[in-house]
Amino acid sequence: MNVLVTGGLGFIGSHTCVELLNSGNDVIVIDDLSNAKIEVKDYIRKITGKGIIFYQGNVCDRKIMHKIFEENKIDATMHFAGFKAVGESVSKPLEYYDNNITSTLVLCEIMQEYNCKNLVFSSSATVYGDPEEVPINENSSLGPTTNPYGTTKLFIEQILKDLYISDNKWNITILRYFNPIGAHESGLIGENPNGIPNNLVPYIVMVANKELPFLYVYGDDYDTPDGTGIRDYIHVVDLARGHVSALKKLDKDNVGIETYNLGTGKGHSVLDIINAFEKANSIDIPYQINSRRPGDVAVYYANPQKAFKELGFKAEKNIDDMMKDSWNFIQTAKQTQE
Ligand code: WQD
Repeated sequence: MNVLVTGGLGFIGSHTCVELLNSGNDVIVIDDLSNAKIEVKDYIRKITGKGIIFYQGNVCDRKIMHKIFEENKIDATMHFAGFKAVGESVSKPLEYYDNNITSTLVLCEIMQEYNCKNLVFSSSATVYGDPEEVPINENSSLGPTTNPYGTTKLFIEQILKDLYISDNKWNITILRYFNPIGAHESGLIGENPNGIPNNLVPYIVMVANKELPFLYVYGDDYDTPDGTGIRDYIHVVDLARGHVSALKKLDKDNVGIETYNLGTGKGHSVLDIINAFEKANSIDIPYQINSRRPGDVAVYYANPQKAFKELGFKAEKNIDDMMKDSWNFIQTAKQTQE
């Protein structure tokens, strides 16, 4: 299939482009490079031996979106493009609502105009808010989320549901990610946040790389075995493969609109992750216990059964792989820059 990947040079988008190409698809990417580097295009070619068709721009720009659909026969779209920093979204709500929602509206309008109605949407487990119970399944109650970023995902899911109700020729799959971490084994692509990372694993990697002195552990007084927060960490390559599984189902069946959790079904605490990183890479990670981070919840992990039953998707990589690949990416990036 010819797949348009919005935000395709970003962390999850680029890994998905690799898996799409490796599965015999052709890939067209639009990315405004606001949170991605143009070199990623070359790394994707290096990894797969195949090129992508690249357009630099923002999905909100109708002109470039028309150009893409005029110049390419798009069979399906995977929509990753969007702002995704939870903390930043609290201080910049208008930018988040404008960019994340407008880009989705423009994309769907153009797709409709060109009669392309196969869409995979990158959503987030954040839409579950503070879960009543774990593991979380797709019918668990939604919201309220603790930040505008999460609310944009909630709003976009509703927009897509309304779009399907208006025209049931749409074939829409919503994928709710838990905590994507790790990097491709080549070390060429991975998570390269600008500035000081908000997320745990990129922060640990910077401490390991001596770019930060120590890690703050946000709270050790949660109702968990070691008192620190528990999350469902999934390797980004597994997550990318989950997208290919979703696309195959879209291509084979008329799914209508379906939602799937992409997680491992296993929870790991902050201290588990620190210990796993230290063990996998033989590097000490100094840390200090700090107070809880506002908006954090204690425990979050998926019930991954629906994706397994209906998409045949099951995460294969373990925490040790995630820790080794996260560190390998930074080491490779460092060597490339030297
Ligand atoms: C994980 C755990 C923290 C940093 C966020 C978004 C979510 C998704 C994934 C996009 C928590 C603890 C963290 C640190 C720490 N992103 N922590 N010290 O908050 O589960 O999810 O990223 O879709 O939408 O909400 O991920 O990595 O920030 O935190 O102790 O320096 O690590 O308290 O328990 P989170 P995270």
